[in-house]
Amino acid sequence: MDKGTVCVTGGTGFIASWLIKGLLEEGYSVRTTVRPDPENKRDLSFLTGLPAPGAAEKLKIFTADLSDALSFDAAIKGSKGVFHVATPVDFENKEPEEIITQRAISGTLGILKACLKSGTVKRVVYTSSSAAVDCNGQDSDMMDESFWSDVNFVREKTTPGFRSYTISKTMTERAALEFGEQHGLEVVTVTPTFVVGPFICPKFPGSVRSSLALVLGNHSEYSLLLNVSMVHVDDVARAHIFVLEYPDAKGRYNCCSHTMSLEKLSEFLGGRYPEFPIPAPKSLVGIKGRKTPGLSSKKLLDTGFKYSYGVEEMFDDAINCCKERGYL
Ligand SMILES: NC(=O)c1ccc[n+]([C@@H]2O[C@H](COP(=O)([O-])OP(=O)(O)OC[C@H]3O[C@@H](n4cnc5c(N)ncnc54)[C@H](OP(=O)(O)O)[C@@H]3O)[C@@H](O)[C@H]2O)c1
Repeated sequence: MDKGTVCVTGGTGFIASWLIKGLLEEGYSVRTTVRPDPENKRDLSFLTGLPAPGAAEKLKIFTADLSDALSFDAAIKGSKGVFHVATPVDFENKEPEEIITQRAISGTLGILKACLKSGTVKRVVYTSSSAAVDCNGQDSDMMDESFWSDVNFVREKTTPGFRSYTISKTMTERAALEFGEQHGLEVVTVTPTFVVGPFICPKFPGSVRSSLALVLGNHSEYSLLLNVSMVHVDDVARAHIFVLEYPDAKGRYNCCSHTMSLEKLSEFLGGRYPEFPIPAPKSLVGIKGRKTPGLSSKKLLDTGFKYSYGVEEMFDDAINCCKERGYL
């Protein structure tokens, strides 16, 4: 079945590459953008060699960079939908937060302007993050889409590593939704929590590595898992495709299938993977950090979307993939 042509930005990334695989399997033709590689050093065979039927003809690769707002025009022209997944990620603070945020916003607005110019794009799905959904120090067990991270609160209270990511995701998602409202362009956003599972991209995805902190013995990341909300990468890709196709999609969609305390996670991992020296739940009681409230997916589920994967599959798939790739 030919479902038409769509564009995915940032095809080298963890989620975008899995999304491209899913779109090709669903019968879409895909244009994806990757950053320019003047020395031609990058191996893109993980994309060009995807086993989906007709992938060789149906996948076209373009170059574009968020620092050059006009660079996405060629990939977008002729597409009926755009998944804007690429984002600057800088957890090591190599660049100031303002630079990262400015790049994310101006690149995104350039993409949205290209969608308007194209005359073919019917809807844009922007990949935001649960980092943009927060109760900003107020009491809350569960957050729906009405919760927004407060950038001033983030500036004061968040550790530098997460500051630029949280601020850039929040301000870019707001800018994208506002642009859509002002210009009559359908923009919907997906806000996933920690994305776990297998990967086809060359890099070891940060969220998979962090979710496996107890397996890998990465003590410094245990605090990220105090009340961790997670979703399988294939469910994230399916949710993106679903909101592109769902006729009445509007606004934001949280995307989270499971939430677990650190102790429960260690109990689960210790029972399921006895080959790894998982720390016992009791030994984790003193771990300090923020317990993030859960993220409600009610809005997405009310549309008829169903998650297909449990925590067992998230971790089985992540661990098997890491073993195959030599990370475990
Ligand atoms: N993984 C998660 O748990 C998670 C959770 C919530 C939301 N998200 C969101 O999902 C999206 C994808 O995340 P991911 O985990 O797949 O991250 P990733 O693997 O690091 O992918 C990021 C992508 O963005 C591209 N990129 C970075 N800077 C760029 C620039 N200046 N111009 C063009 N492209 C650029 C990267 O290209 P290079 O390969 O060339 O660096 C890469 O393709 C992001 O928007 C992220 O905020 C992820």
